[in-house]
Formats: sequence, structure tokens, C-alpha cells
Amino acid sequence: MEWYKEIFDFVLKEVPDIDSHLPPSLSKDPTPLDVDFIIDVLKIKRPARILDLCCGTGRHSVLLAEKGFNVVGLDLSSQAIKKAKLKLITRNVKARFVRKDMRAIPFNKYFDAIINMSDSFGYFNNDEDNYKIIENVSNSLKNGGKFLLEVLNRERLIRKPLTLFIEYKNWYSIISTKVDPVTGIEKGKVIYIKKDGTKKKEWDVSVKRYTVPEYERMFKGVGLKILNVFGDFYKSKFNVDSPAMIILAQKEYNLS
Ligand SMILES: C[S@@+](CC[C@H](N)C(=O)[O-])C[C@H]1O[C@@H](n2cnc3c(N)ncnc32)[C@H](O)[C@@H]1O
Repeated sequence: MEWYKEIFDFVLKEVPDIDSHLPPSLSKDPTPLDVDFIIDVLKIKRPARILDLCCGTGRHSVLLAEKGFNVVGLDLSSQAIKKAKLKLITRNVKARFVRKDMRAIPFNKYFDAIINMSDSFGYFNNDEDNYKIIENVSNSLKNGGKFLLEVLNRERLIRKPLTLFIEYKNWYSIISTKVDPVTGIEKGKVIYIKKDGTKKKEWDVSVKRYTVPEYERMFKGVGLKILNVFGDFYKSKFNVDSPAMIILAQKEYNLS
């Protein structure tokens, strides 16, 4: 089975303290900073409709809903959707969560904005599938709607391959990957070892890392125009050392 179909369900089920150990190198923490950035750069007014594509446990969705936006979260992981729905109850807030594949977004010209946060793009080895998502994003946006994509910085990953060792309450995890500068494909391993020695899980992962001009070409094909590229949630200009590549794009107004 493809790694992205298994790994998130496994981790969310088996490692309950995952949220409190988010590696800063993945720009996961703190969520309120991400959300202030999202609202600021999208420049959309409440109660605009936002799709949180690959919403995970709803870190951004729930905060955005609390701040008055009309939010739909979409994710493939049933564990993620379950946890996101639970957050709605415990925090007494309204949003919608749907379990779907990002290659099949079931909306048409519906959203004012779509966000895809924390490195949730490029999971498919063939460019056609990754392109399909961008096409779906464009179809799901109203004309003039905005798209915000946050992924790790390919240029930095090429020069500084990812090696992480994280200790959780009951688990150790090791992530080790390298980007091939010719193909742009990042390959490596994600390993979880239970501290008591009773379980070990290991996945071969691969993520396609695109350059900004490659994104620009993909976006152009579906009527999306890049407005800005940031390197972090403090709105720094993107450069080769930035921790993240955060692309803000807009759907053309005159698309039929
Ligand atoms: C790195 S996590 C980010 C989650 C969330 N955006 C956040 O910031 O916490 C990536 C998410 O993408 C979801 N995902 C992976 N493959 C997917 C697919 N084919 N369709 C929809 N969601 C998918 C995973 O289940 C996971 O929740």
C-alpha cells in the first residue's frame, strides 16, 4: 500500500502525543502563528468559505472556524477526520470534515480560498496525479479565489537532507530522506520503534519536490497566478535557505 495511505492513520492511532512533539523544522508549530498568517495573506472577509485540503486533525480548520470562517476540512485518513470532528465537539465550534482523496475534491467553484498546509503536496510519484490536485483546486475555487500552498523548501532539502530523531512518550521515530536534484524526488525511510521493543513499523516514503517555476507552469495551465512566495510564516521573502516554500496564488477572474 502507498505510504501516505498508511502512515498518518498509524501515527494518529498509535502515537497520541504526536501533536505535542511537532518538529519545528516542519514549520508545524505554533498553529496560531500559521493561522494569523493565513488570514493576513489571503485577505478574505468573514464568513468566507475555506477548504483545508489535507486538514489532518484540523489544526488550522478549527482555529479558522473559531475566527468566523466557513471551513471544510478534507483528508484521506479516517483517524485524522475522527480527531478533527472530536475537536469540534470539545471546542464547541462548527465546521465540516470529509474523508476523501485530494485527487477527487467534490466541489465546483465553491470556495473563496483553499489552503494546503504542512507539506501535504507531491505525495504521488507521477506528475499527472500531482497536477490533477492543482486542477481540482482551481475547479473548486470561485473565480478570483486564493490558493495557499506550504511545503518544505526543495533547495534547502537538497543541500541539507532531512534527518530527524524524535522521542515520544512510548515511541521513537526516525525520519531520514534525500532529494535527488535531477528528478526532484525525495526518497527515504520513516521508522517508528516502540520503546518497550514490542513493535516496529517502517515505510519507504517518496515526495516530489517542485521548484517555484515548475509550480508556476502547473498553476498557469489551470488559470492560477502566483501572487507571492514566502519563506516562513513571518512573511520573509523566499530564498534557498528558507525553511518553507509558501506559495500564494489566485484564480483568474475571467475563467468560464
Ligand atoms: C503532513 S500532514 C498535514 C496535516 C495538516 N495539514 C496539518 O497541518 O496538521 C499530511 C496530511 O495529508 C493527508 N493525506 C495524505 N494523502 C492524502 C490524499 N491522497 N488525499 C487526502 N489527504 C491525504 C494525511 O492523512 C495527513 O493528514
